[in-house]
Amino acid sequence: MSDRAAELLSRIDLFSELTAEELAAVAQVAQVHKLPRDTVVFDTGDAADAVYVVASGKVNIVVTSSEGKELILAVLGAGQVFGEMGLLDSSPRSAAVTTATAVELLVINRDEFHRMLDTQPQISRKLLTMLAQRLRRANAKMESLAYMDVAGRLARYFLDLARDHGQALGNGWLVVRRPTHSDIAHSIGTSRETVSRLINDFEDRLGMVNKGRFTYIREEMVR
Ligand code: CMP
Repeated sequence: MSDRAAELLSRIDLFSELTAEELAAVAQVAQVHKLPRDTVVFDTGDAADAVYVVASGKVNIVVTSSEGKELILAVLGAGQVFGEMGLLDSSPRSAAVTTATAVELLVINRDEFHRMLDTQPQISRKLLTMLAQRLRRANAKMESLAYMDVAGRLARYFLDLARDHGQALGNGWLVVRRPTHSDIAHSIGTSRETVSRLINDFEDRLGMVNKGRFTYIREEMVR
């Protein structure tokens, strides 16, 4: 188990400045959890007892309104950390986390996480950088939900997707394994039907191409 943890840890930016000895020490205490798609890792309001690092796959960070409407706050992929907030402010989980694909997660318990922050300033620095980037994204999302119409929000969503997960190709980006229409709808605060209609419109007017879960986003679409 710890050999696998060491191999996974060595590829993660948060731990990239650790010596081999320090990495081995973290690997001793990190557990590897393999979960299938559509699994709840934890729910909003649960007690926070561990921090998680995505080693492979993707997770959705989700909040649900009192009427049962879901909003996906973020999709996190390999190398990203979640569950740190509950440990940093000693509060229950602020959101639910579900797996969007099959995942491998590294799980580090509360005491070990605090010990790492106390003894490894480079980990604390990287975590702060990550939190600042997360706040920027959350602000941009708040801005688009407050000020943009649905078509604008969807175009912004595809721009982010292209930048984060796309491969440059011709005058655009190819995205492999694009999120489902339902997940896109939950990310931009609209219905699946509206997303499907707008994607058809983007295909007709702006040359977007969708084949299965492959999507090609042209540069002019997001200008
Ligand atoms: P925690 O509150 O312990 O559990 C839910 C986790 O979701 C939280 O820690 C963060 O790691 C993560 N999270 C919450 N809000 C956001 C957001 N806006 N963007 C990315 N991740 C988030």
